[in-house]
Amino acid sequence: MHMVSAADALQEILISESELRTRVTELGEEIRRGYEGLDGRLLVVGMLKGSFIFLADLVRAIDLHCEIDFMAASSYGNSTESSGQIRVTRDIKGIEGQHVLIVEDIVDSGYTMDYILRLLRSRNPASVKLVSLLDKPSRRRVPVQIDYCGFEIEDKFVVGYGLDFAGMYRNLPFIGVLKPECYR
Ligand code: IMP
Ligand code: MG
Repeated sequence: MHMVSAADALQEILISESELRTRVTELGEEIRRGYEGLDGRLLVVGMLKGSFIFLADLVRAIDLHCEIDFMAASSYGNSTESSGQIRVTRDIKGIEGQHVLIVEDIVDSGYTMDYILRLLRSRNPASVKLVSLLDKPSRRRVPVQIDYCGFEIEDKFVVGYGLDFAGMYRNLPFIGVLKPECYR
């Protein structure tokens, strides 16, 4: 199969560029209101690699003093299924007394965010909240509180706007569903 455009691999566009833009702007405003009266700065922590595009757009929509850092975690498992065993592969510096906002691309089983939220909360921050662009509630194995959620989606494997399949398709400017033949 020869494909010239990355978008040729898609079966369907689930969330368009303009829908993403509108919702990300709203999320930025929700987050600003959620930290009304914030004394000092917000530490925005993006989960690599999936959140990089969402974070880049989101921070420009949050009218607060922000510092930005990145963390990476990997779970043992194949490319579409997470396992319960999470490992931090890039960590942030000390967060004691800081207000931390984690930025994630998608909460699926919940294993990754459950682990990361517990880990960061054990480090005595002033607060830890989570913003996730996408939520697939039907896939949840452990409960996770998402403080700010972009879109709830059905149980479909999605790519684009930072999300990948086997390292590819992160550069698509929208969220789409891959054609089944692209899994093989
Ligand atoms: P969880 O630990 O099962 O909640 O999964 C978290 C990670 O799995 C996310 O941060 C994504 O990197 C990845 N993931 C889960 N579902 C999808 C999807 O539909 N497309 C791309 N990546 C996904
Ligand atoms: Mg991820």
